[in-house]
Amino acid sequence: MLFPQRRGTARRALSLAAAVVIALALTPFNAGQAAAAPGPSFSNPAVGTPNSADPTLVQYNGNYYYVATTWSADVVMRRSSTIAGLHTAPEQVVVRTGGTTMWAPHLEMVGDRWYLYYSVEQSGGARRTHVAESAGTDPMGPYTIRGIINLMPNNGWAIDASLLKLNGALYMTFSAFSPIDNLQSLFIAPMSNPWTASAFGTRISAPTLTWERQDGDVNEGSFALQRNGRTFLTYSASHCQGPNYKLGMLEYTGGDPLAQASWSKFADPIFQRNDAASVYGPGHHSFFSSPDGTETWIAYHANSSATQGCGKTRTTRVQKISWNADGTPNLGVPVSTSTVLQGPSGEADGPSRAKIRNRHSNLCLDDYNFGTQPGAEVRQWTCNDAPVQDWYLTALGNGYYEIRNGHSGLCLDDKDWATAAGSVVQQWTCNRYTVQQWRVNSVAGGYSTLVNRYSGLCLDNYNFGTAPGAEVRQWTCNGNNAQQWTIG
Ligand code: AHR
Repeated sequence: MLFPQRRGTARRALSLAAAVVIALALTPFNAGQAAAAPGPSFSNPAVGTPNSADPTLVQYNGNYYYVATTWSADVVMRRSSTIAGLHTAPEQVVVRTGGTTMWAPHLEMVGDRWYLYYSVEQSGGARRTHVAESAGTDPMGPYTIRGIINLMPNNGWAIDASLLKLNGALYMTFSAFSPIDNLQSLFIAPMSNPWTASAFGTRISAPTLTWERQDGDVNEGSFALQRNGRTFLTYSASHCQGPNYKLGMLEYTGGDPLAQASWSKFADPIFQRNDAASVYGPGHHSFFSSPDGTETWIAYHANSSATQGCGKTRTTRVQKISWNADGTPNLGVPVSTSTVLQGPSGEADGPSRAKIRNRHSNLCLDDYNFGTQPGAEVRQWTCNDAPVQDWYLTALGNGYYEIRNGHSGLCLDDKDWATAAGSVVQQWTCNRYTVQQWRVNSVAGGYSTLVNRYSGLCLDNYNFGTAPGAEVRQWTCNGNNAQQWTIG
């Protein structure tokens, strides 16, 4: 559905046929409502095609950050406070790699910076692992590319890199072709810092077992899983071009992590196709914790047909794992896409999608001119079905809400930490600082006021405007109709 927009008058014409009645009960928000757990239910795929293979899903400060293979030169990231919200979370470009199709990004924090590892080809050379570093603690970036990690001799092919923190040291595990037998195997390299390998990789696993050699001899997509002092290295085996792509596992048994003898391979796969559920080729996964830290979940890709392979049909699925009595992870079996799952424990109240309409102007809060950059304007416009007027309220558990725009992915923000009556309201990268926290106070007739936690001012239909484009500011709370909004 397109929302044509003419510049200048910034007029919007809507496809009436697409108008969908949002049947949300107009229940005033109880600002004191605590965040509930577990999170909103969902069913897989958690993220649909095309950028949905080889997923890395990280949970940080109550939000999920998602990256996956994109078939383009870019790394794009999604952010959502719930798994249920991932599906519609906007993709934001976080790294322009300057290479060819970007494969299998891995997102991980080391110290107070985030690192994105991904593979691309450049200027006709072999596919190699590159790294980008965040400017701060926000996984959304911005990022600076730190270069290529020199993992194999002669600038050799190396993909699916991820980090392993073990015995106080940092390692990188990855997949490469062995110069000995040319088997695509798992390698490990010591890292002197998150962007530098201090030696070439050594092999710790080759695809030697039958279940590792279906449709192609492959070990790749390694991901470390550590619990109660034990270190497991889980990985994908067999070739992604067939339905028998699956997960295997090594365990570190002590000694030099760079030596194959320090790793023991489990004789059987730990996660594989489930024909009864129409799940084929499950693999290239990551693990993440629930927001309250009590649960471990897996994100993986899979196909819905046995004839699909390594292409754009692979979608991301997530499900909870458990632990066996002997301390090993139990991944269970991949569930069907018709299975409804409860969201991870501790998710903030799933964002409620709402239109926010002013009592005086009868206009709706609007991401003016479809802005997507931090600082984007907030105005009022004739209420419509456009995502620019979808606002997602996420309970922060302290009586306040984050209010995020469905089009920009940015949050309602007290611009420049202002406190004077008339202060500007903008959209800014969501950071959950107090300038982006809004208390929703119910008043009579299903209306509410929205009070900014930092300024203490109310969201206000400025100067009682009634024409599309009317301004929105903050003003001293006075209870008049210009400060009353329906949310729903
Ligand atoms: O999806 C692209 C590549 O295919 C991934 O890097 C690898 O794990 C998979 O086999």
